[in-house]
Amino acid sequence: MRTKLLWGVGAVVILALVISVVATGGNSGSGGSATFGGDTVAGKVVFEGTCAACHGVEGVGTDVGPPLVHRYYRPGHHADGAFTLAIRNGVQPHHWDFGAMPPQPGLSDQDIADVTAYVRQIQEAAGIR
Ligand code: HEC
Repeated sequence: MRTKLLWGVGAVVILALVISVVATGGNSGSGGSATFGGDTVAGKVVFEGTCAACHGVEGVGTDVGPPLVHRYYRPGHHADGAFTLAIRNGVQPHHWDFGAMPPQPGLSDQDIADVTAYVRQIQEAAGIR
């Protein structure tokens, strides 16, 4: 079961790589929108490495942090800028009783854009928009 899941993830990663190579290889000169905004595949890696310890794999929450796949964090209530602020400055507890979120140093602006895009993707998949 776990192996199957890993194969699935691997296939998605390979597919994304192929697509990005094809997309950038064309050099259409149109500005390559893929370089703007976040990359959800890279964002998943950032999320699982940095955020999942508290926010849970797939953003479902843990004993020490709230779910991000939650109505509170829908785009209309927490705009993308809230992610940058949370990661750079941390968060004072105001919605939950988990305590504060510490700042997450070491993430680049691109990492933040990517992880935000990933969270939006899993929110949307859960019908939160
Ligand atoms: C040490 C645990 C911890 C880690 C690691 C962590 N968070 Fe949090 N985060 C929290 C807690 C706790 C809250 C809820 C605070 C509250 O009560 O509103 C929170 C809240 C947030 C919020 C809501 C901010 C707001 O304005 O209300 C966002 C967005 C967020 N986290 C994103 C992330 C992302 C993205 C990462 C990874 C880069 C991450 N967090 C890593 C604990 C964590």
